[in-house]
Amino acid sequence: MKTEIMSVDNFLTRDLSYTQAVDLLSAGETVAFPTETVYGLGAIATSENAVSKIFEAKGRPQDNPLIVHIGSKEELSTFTQNVPNLANICMDAFWPGPLTLVLPIKTDSLAKNVTAGLNTVGVRMPDHPVALELLRRLKQPVAAPSANKSGKPSPTKAAHVYHDLNGKIPLILDGGATGIGLESTVLDFTTEVPTILRPGGVTKEMLEKVIGPVNESKLTDEAEAPRAPGMKYAHYSPDAPVYLIEASISTVQQAIEQIHKDEKKVALIATEQFTFTKADYYFSLGQEHQLEDAAHLLYEALRNCDETDAHIILVPIFVKQGVGTAIMNRLEKAANGNWFES
Ligand code: TXA
Ligand code: MG
Repeated sequence: MKTEIMSVDNFLTRDLSYTQAVDLLSAGETVAFPTETVYGLGAIATSENAVSKIFEAKGRPQDNPLIVHIGSKEELSTFTQNVPNLANICMDAFWPGPLTLVLPIKTDSLAKNVTAGLNTVGVRMPDHPVALELLRRLKQPVAAPSANKSGKPSPTKAAHVYHDLNGKIPLILDGGATGIGLESTVLDFTTEVPTILRPGGVTKEMLEKVIGPVNESKLTDEAEAPRAPGMKYAHYSPDAPVYLIEASISTVQQAIEQIHKDEKKVALIATEQFTFTKADYYFSLGQEHQLEDAAHLLYEALRNCDETDAHIILVPIFVKQGVGTAIMNRLEKAANGNWFES
């Protein structure tokens, strides 16, 4: 299959790009498109055959449910039921935006493989002009996980999608780099107190201001997090192993020296106060304390390591506050328990 990349920035070809995307989706094919978080790989959520093409293209395990994307709130009642009042308050406050709500599903409404057989469904309205235009033209819910090869960092540019899925999907809508750079917050409304299953751009602090107390699922503890099935798989992994390390310049410098003594090469992914350490490769996460910038740059930095011959990737940790919680959640998964001790 030939994978086409169509820009939606050129106003002469813009309309054609959307028409082609809508036609492909309506015909049961997959289309990659930008959202404000990361690029998604979409298919019509009511078609089991269309949705199966997502799993196939990504190499995604079948028991990991997909997020359903909608362009208008009216679509919600076609596939959810008993939506709690707090969930409605969240939609009004944060949609369109990077918040996925897990709600009770209406039986026989969506294709079974969207939800991996669960009686709940994750749904969000993305805050990106391209995603919204596409969804509003299509007028149907679209199942869309991140448009990366399963296990790799989520794509924040069309080129990342092409790198991972070239030859496996027919079309990528190119809307430039995504804004937030980390996937949406997943908030479960089927627990007594709403529970964050995956931290993201909408933080615990932001949620609690609007709906009061929310719980955080211990996402790194597999045994305690059976509700977010996706959390048990390898995630965000470059080819070389990722090691987290204390965020101190002298500690990082010592680690680099030790790695060099073993005649190995090291890539450093860090904010700019670490620029002057002597890593073989350095990928910036922006200025110190600018967590939004770090989130925006993280996945591309992880991907860039695959273009180097580094044997090991070092990443100084972030404080788990605000968006730092989401950054550390992704880094802990990428590192899979690796901590650099000198
Ligand atoms: O920002 C995002 O959410 C992006 C863009 C494309 O919208 N999508 C995304 O999808 O990150 P994906 O499939 O890569 O991640 C979906 C996450 C997984 O951890 C999955 O287990 C969880 O949401 N999830 C989906 N439906 C669920 C459900 N019914 N109950 C619990 N967790 C669910
Ligand atoms: Mg994903």
